[in-house]
Amino acid sequence: MEKIAIFFGPLNGSVHRIAKLVASKIGDDKVDLVHIAAASASDLEKYTRIIFGISTIGKDTWQQKFDNNDWSKFFPVVTSFDFTGKRVAIFGLGDHITYAYHFVDSMGLLGKAIRKQGGELFGATSTEGYTFQDSEAISEGKFIGLPVDEDFEPELTEERVTAWVNSLLKEF
Ligand SMILES: Cc1cc2nc3c(=O)[nH]c(=O)nc-3n(C[C@H](O)[C@H](O)[C@H](O)COP(=O)(O)O)c2cc1C
Repeated sequence: MEKIAIFFGPLNGSVHRIAKLVASKIGDDKVDLVHIAAASASDLEKYTRIIFGISTIGKDTWQQKFDNNDWSKFFPVVTSFDFTGKRVAIFGLGDHITYAYHFVDSMGLLGKAIRKQGGELFGATSTEGYTFQDSEAISEGKFIGLPVDEDFEPELTEERVTAWVNSLLKEF
């Protein structure tokens, strides 16, 4: 079967660690891990099932004009890519204590952009078990993907990722 791609950024932080955890839960031999800094539209074209891993580092950090991180460079690729026929899932790193009003916002902005470009989103997660005030990542009462908080709830990560991957693979 065609491999699932995990496009993630940045490197060497929580997103990277969770990307590897998601890959191991799916099966490392069934997944290509792709760091977005080295990726282009032609890499997205190769896959039907795509998982994105993103963190929120300021409510609009990677959208800012002079910002220079992985997502600020890759986001324009996403907003101009035709996702028609692509099956997409997202996990988002955030901090529900310090940034309670912007919890995993970037996951929401990314998801909206993908839907606008014709992609179908999978892996919505119930808000039950999460504490936060507001989030751009809520759609129809659910998170559009999987929120992970490695700063204040790392002990829940393994269980959250396992449950998410198991349910995602049934529909993906
Ligand atoms: C400057 C800064 C701003 C942040 N802003 C947010 C935010 O608005 N919402 C949120 O949920 N988390 C926020 N976070 C928390 C990060 O998303 C979290 O620490 C994440 O695990 C970082 O993953 P990374 O190291 O792979 O980028 C912020 C962290 C930093 C350092």
